[in-house]
Amino acid sequence: MARSFDAARWLDFVLDRTIAPGYSRVGFVARHRCWPDDDPRPGAMHGSTALVTGANSGIGEAIAAALVGLGATVLLGVRDPERGERARREIQAADPNTEVSVARCDVADLGSVTECAATLAETLPRLDVLVHNAGVLPDERVETADGHELTLATHVLGPLLLTELVAPLMGAAADPRVIFVASGGMYTQPLAVDDPEFRDGQYRGATAYARTKRMQVALTGPLAEHYAPQGISVHSMHPGWADTPGIAAALPRFRRLTRPLLRTPAQGADTAVWLAATAQTPPSGRFWHDRRTRPEHYLRRTHYTDENVRRLYQYCCRAAGLQVS
Ligand SMILES: NC(=O)c1ccc[n+]([C@@H]2O[C@H](COP(=O)([O-])OP(=O)(O)OC[C@H]3O[C@@H](n4cnc5c(N)ncnc54)[C@H](OP(=O)(O)O)[C@@H]3O)[C@@H](O)[C@H]2O)c1
Repeated sequence: MARSFDAARWLDFVLDRTIAPGYSRVGFVARHRCWPDDDPRPGAMHGSTALVTGANSGIGEAIAAALVGLGATVLLGVRDPERGERARREIQAADPNTEVSVARCDVADLGSVTECAATLAETLPRLDVLVHNAGVLPDERVETADGHELTLATHVLGPLLLTELVAPLMGAAADPRVIFVASGGMYTQPLAVDDPEFRDGQYRGATAYARTKRMQVALTGPLAEHYAPQGISVHSMHPGWADTPGIAAALPRFRRLTRPLLRTPAQGADTAVWLAATAQTPPSGRFWHDRRTRPEHYLRRTHYTDENVRRLYQYCCRAAGLQVS
């Protein structure tokens, strides 16, 4: 028994450090065999309400569908209500008795985030789970209406503001959990403390994407501390490589070369769903992949100090229109 447990841990470690096999469906299938069938248990989310951003396609839609399958009432946070409605119909087609609705929330637009949070405050008694899944990988540097670089606004500023505005609703839940869907791409990037808006140097969408995914992971700790008094736990995870409309549009060549090995959206969604629904609250402030905590760095050059994180956190709070604590 001890030997097979050690073998499973060793395999998990090797899959993680060799990157490509671990991120592919090979890693998922190998690890999945070691997880208990009843975790999360059926009906684990019964009576809970979850908001999933970017839930009209890919991993976000798969997270929403899985939470619905576990009994949650799910709000699909989307920037295009028509696309949200299509996803709602698809999810409900599996079981018409489930509760799924569409909430307009363009996370790159601070005004839209504020409006969405106000609507939730009027309509919900509490919010149990918030999944920051919406993601973009732009071709060129774009600024939002608020004057922020698009990936920073989408992956960091909007989620910070939304979390803060719904924190009172989440504080009313028994075991509230916030989950960031980050990316393994963040391993390549240090923390862009001196240029969070990517104003300097040659802009590359993939770099901006990875930098802001790095920020999500770096800010998970401070956010966990900030929300601990309200009992809200904060987690980040990466899904591996999953075949989604986002990958097809942003990385067509990568998809062509790796397609047979890519995870399904549901496999990419698994750890976010597990973090939302597993019975024992996972420890707050950590970074996860395939249901285990993972290192935040593989490269020496990406390491940063607590002071770097504090400075970035302060910049992002101000940029999101929040008071700095
Ligand atoms: N697929 C992978 O292998 C992979 C790997 C690592 C990390 N991830 C992460 O997983 C998450 C989901 O990605 P995916 O692969 O499923 O891509 P996807 O199919 O393109 O899904 C992204 C979703 O985000 C939504 N979105 C983008 N900007 C938004 C905004 N401002 N407000 C609200 N929603 C917005 C999109 O809505 P529209 O339909 O309106 O564009 C879409 O529903 C992302 O955070 C991504 O970084 C994916």
